[in-house]
Amino acid sequence: MSSIRSVVSTLSKNPLVLKVRKTAFKGTTEYWESRYAKGGNSGAGSYGREAEWKAEVVNDWVAELGVASVVDLGCGDGNQLGLAKYPRYLGMDPSATAVRMCMERFADDPTKSFLAYDPQALADPAGWLRGDLALSMEVIFHLIEEELFENYMTRLFASAERYVVICSNDTSGSEQGPTERHRDFTKWIERTQQEWELDRRVEPPSDINLMSSFFLYKRKA
Ligand SMILES: C[S@@+](CC[C@H](N)C(=O)[O-])C[C@H]1O[C@@H](n2cnc3c(N)ncnc32)[C@H](O)[C@@H]1O
Repeated sequence: MSSIRSVVSTLSKNPLVLKVRKTAFKGTTEYWESRYAKGGNSGAGSYGREAEWKAEVVNDWVAELGVASVVDLGCGDGNQLGLAKYPRYLGMDPSATAVRMCMERFADDPTKSFLAYDPQALADPAGWLRGDLALSMEVIFHLIEEELFENYMTRLFASAERYVVICSNDTSGSEQGPTERHRDFTKWIERTQQEWELDRRVEPPSDINLMSSFFLYKRKA
């Protein structure tokens, strides 16, 4: 498995492959919908040992902090969610195909709701879509357009009463192709979200093939 990843990683840095992929890229929202519609999934980080580690971190925090509800912005195909232990959950994603996959998979689970949404056509100042904890797992470094990034980050913090959990890469400039844009998102949070403070940061263990770390933000007292 690791040799396949290394070939994919080498190919994804090839200038010709990068040029073809950049020309074909139509935007973040279109990219993910078309990927799921063609039978694709949420990516390697949402499967296997990587998904297990991500679930362990969030499940432990949810239990320890007594979190009653989770709003997940960018829930994906539901494979990662299959490992989650949350009392009450709302999964949102701009890809209607991904949301339908979740609806089908969790059709018998009354604790989980799902919503496909258009990031440019949703305002929730009244807090209908707010939870105890807002979750963002491996979404931020896939947000290519600046406006989409600003929209997403603002919505993420507005979706949380007490905690925000982010799993992403915090180093700019290490992209592996046109579907990634790495940003120092912690600086954006420091600059714009003054009611929030970083409480914990957890790095992946050496056997986990993820470039993301976990960040737990809590609302200041
Ligand atoms: C790499 S997948 C991660 C899925 C899931 N969080 C996980 O960890 O398995 C990235 C997801 O982000 C979603 N996404 C893209 N743009 C988004 C946006 N503006 N708001 C919320 N989710 C978005 C994609 O549709 C895709 O399902």
